[in-house]
Amino acid sequence: MSTEYPYPLKIRAIWWDGEDKRVCWLNTAKLPFTEEVKCSDEPPTLAKAIINMEIRGAPAIGVAAALGVAAYAHKIVERDLEEYTRMINEAIKLLWNTRPTAHNLFWALNRMKKKLHEGLGKGYSTDKITDMLEEEALNIMREDIESNIKMGEYGAELIPDKATIMTHCNAGALATAAFGTALGVIRVAWYRGKKIKVIATETRPVLQGARLTVWELAREGIPVTLITDNMAGYVIRKGLVDLVIVGADRITREGYVANKIGTYMIALAAKRNNIPFYVAAPTSTIDLDSTVNDIIIEERNPDEVRKVLGKPITLPEIPALNYAFDITDPDLVTAIITEKGVVKPPFDKNLKKIFE
Ligand code: MRU
Repeated sequence: MSTEYPYPLKIRAIWWDGEDKRVCWLNTAKLPFTEEVKCSDEPPTLAKAIINMEIRGAPAIGVAAALGVAAYAHKIVERDLEEYTRMINEAIKLLWNTRPTAHNLFWALNRMKKKLHEGLGKGYSTDKITDMLEEEALNIMREDIESNIKMGEYGAELIPDKATIMTHCNAGALATAAFGTALGVIRVAWYRGKKIKVIATETRPVLQGARLTVWELAREGIPVTLITDNMAGYVIRKGLVDLVIVGADRITREGYVANKIGTYMIALAAKRNNIPFYVAAPTSTIDLDSTVNDIIIEERNPDEVRKVLGKPITLPEIPALNYAFDITDPDLVTAIITEKGVVKPPFDKNLKKIFE
C-alpha cells in the first residue's frame, strides 16, 4: 500500500479484506496497550464498533461505514433484488444512527445510497450492484488517503521550522483511512525535515490524545509531550506553543467548527495569545447545507466521565455531563486546511469557492 503514495503509511486503522470481502479495523478502544484487529461483514457488529469507539474519528467512521455496506452487499448478494435492496437500506439506516456529529458518516453513506439507486435505476443484478458498491467504498477510502496527503502538503507550508505545535484529540492515521488530517500536516512537515515538536492534550474522557496521538507520533519518531487538558491555557500563555492544529467533525457553511470537546477552550487561548489556530479537514467534513444551529452535539454515557479507563473516580450516582464535541466560532480560526487548498476568512464566502 505504502508504495502507491509519496509518504509511508505506517499506521492503518481501517482497511478492506478483499479476499473475504470484509471491513477490518484496528480496535482503537484498546490502544496503546493492545493491538487488536477485528473484521466483519455484519452491519450490527460494525455499528457497535463505531458506537463503542473501536473505530472513531470523522473520516474513519465514514470510510468504515461505506466499506461495511459493501461487505454486507457481498454477504447478501444471493438474495432477490427486492430483499437485497431492503436489507442494504436497513444497513445504511443502522450505520447512519451510530454517531450524530461527524458529517463524513452521512456524506459517505449518501454516496453509497446514490450508487445503490444508480444500479437499481439501470436495472442491474445484485452481482453488478455489489461490484459498484465495493468500488465506491474503495474510492471513498482511497480519496480520503489522497486528501490527507494533499492537506499535509498544503498545511506543511504553514509550519515554521522548529515550531512547537499543540494538537487536541487524535486527528491522525487512527482517525482516517490513513495518514491523518492534523497529524498528516505534522507528518509532512516532519518528513520535509522540519524539526518540529508536538504537545498533545490527553483529551478526557476517552483519552484519544494520551492513548492514540502519543502512540501514533511515537511510532513516527516525532517528539511529543503529553499534557492534561486543563494545562492547555497555561502552556499557551507561557509561550510554549507556536501554533495549534486540530481536526474537525463538521464545518458549517459559516465556518463554525465542531470538534472534540475542549477544542473551543484551546481556540480561545490561542486567540488571546496571538498564535495561529488551524483546522485541517477534508471537504467531506464541510457541510455547506448546515449552519451552526444544525450541529448535533453527541452526548455520551456519563459513566465515561465518572470513570477513567473503566475505573470509578467519583461517587457512582453523581450526575455528570458528557458532551463529546464543542463548537469553535469562525473568528477564532486562522485558516482551514483542506485537500483543495488553505481557506482563509471570511469562511462564509471562501468555503463555497472550494466547491465550485
Ligand atoms: O469522538 P472521536 O474520537 O470520534 O472524535 C474525534 C475528533 O474529534 C477528531 O478531532 C475529528 O474527528 C477529526 S479526525 C481526523
